[in-house]
Amino acid sequence: MAESIALAGATKAERYRELVPQLAALVDGEPDLIANLANLAAALRTGLPVASWVGFYIARGSELVLGPFQGNVACVRIAFGRGVCGTAAAECTTLIVPDVAQFPGHIACDAGSRSEIVVPISRRGQVVAVLDVDSYELAAFDAVDAEWLSAIAELAATLAW
Ligand code: SME
Repeated sequence: MAESIALAGATKAERYRELVPQLAALVDGEPDLIANLANLAAALRTGLPVASWVGFYIARGSELVLGPFQGNVACVRIAFGRGVCGTAAAECTTLIVPDVAQFPGHIACDAGSRSEIVVPISRRGQVVAVLDVDSYELAAFDAVDAEWLSAIAELAATLAW
């Protein structure tokens, strides 16, 4: 039986520091990719109360296809190079968008979303997916989120893609 996520830290960095080993424990020993991504999305949503949506888009040819997520229903297919997710995937770079209204080509799956961070998940130089986190708050994500979500993307990269 999986344990629930418990975070006591006073700062965001402290809570991430507590969260990451709990995420690692959650996927440890389980070979099923979908099950692991689903649990990572659920645990991240619990661990990041500022998030309105947390999920994975999985690379399939020249597109990203919606994977396990927590939140409202979302766009299913995003071309590489389109929107925040497709740009992060095409450039294999983390994108912090403090105000989605200012990001040309932002894809509004949820009209309430105000800010977003997208982190690529890569294996042997190939982007296999992106981790997308949205918020109803402006500027909800910063360099601390980028650092720790990148560590979580590295954990996700070790799964059975
Ligand atoms: N806003 C994203 C689309 C995915 S949803 O936010 C879940 C984008 O512009 O790529």
